[in-house]
Amino acid sequence: MTDGGQRDGLSSNRPARISDHFLFMRKFFRHRRKIASIWPSSRFMARACISQVNFSQARLIVELGAGTGAITQAILAAIRPTTRVISIERDGDFFRVLQDRFHGSAGHHLEFLQGDVTHLTDMLRGCGVNDGGVDAFISGLGTPSLPETAREGILHALQWAAKPDCVFSNITEIPLYYLPFYRRHFGDVQFEFVPLNVPPGGVYHCRQVKRL
Ligand SMILES: C[S@@+](CC[C@H](N)C(=O)[O-])C[C@H]1O[C@@H](n2cnc3c(N)ncnc32)[C@H](O)[C@@H]1O
Repeated sequence: MTDGGQRDGLSSNRPARISDHFLFMRKFFRHRRKIASIWPSSRFMARACISQVNFSQARLIVELGAGTGAITQAILAAIRPTTRVISIERDGDFFRVLQDRFHGSAGHHLEFLQGDVTHLTDMLRGCGVNDGGVDAFISGLGTPSLPETAREGILHALQWAAKPDCVFSNITEIPLYYLPFYRRHFGDVQFEFVPLNVPPGGVYHCRQVKRL
């Protein structure tokens, strides 16, 4: 879906937080590992997750595991109108929330794709992304605890699509626990602690993906 509506409509289209929380809780208790979180990210987590994106230069940002759009909204509030955003979510209910929430409200080049990051490279190719064309990957996924095929799907896509200075920023709800995982796969890893989130968490900002 590509939106081309009014930019200033975004603020009036703020996420309905209470319904998001109920939807997250319901899904978490049913599919725990697939959702990975009982609560959507706080605005502090969303801001931290995009804090290393160079918005004045970014032409293409890819968001993984968009949920109900807590981080999508922060991205849209920060980008230039010419920046393209591709936002990926696997779950059908979350995907519908995203479409309803952001439809006609962004005035940006925003596309939502429903699919599994296991096939991330093919998904990006399918929407015309070129080799080395992505400025930033913003991830709400529980990447280290995904099935191996999904982790490899992400890492392959990064190797193929990341610009040399591309950042991969990934939220976590267990501060620093997965640092060895990120250090194993990236040459440069920084951790940003985010206390104001339920539960308190943080963001790994990673560059220089290593070959698998
Ligand atoms: C922890 S939630 C984060 C949601 C949102 N970004 C936020 O911060 O509030 C993780 C999201 O990733 C999605 N997800 C999990 N595995 C996925 C996969 N393999 N491919 C695409 N999305 C996935 C889940 O459906 C869920 O919406």
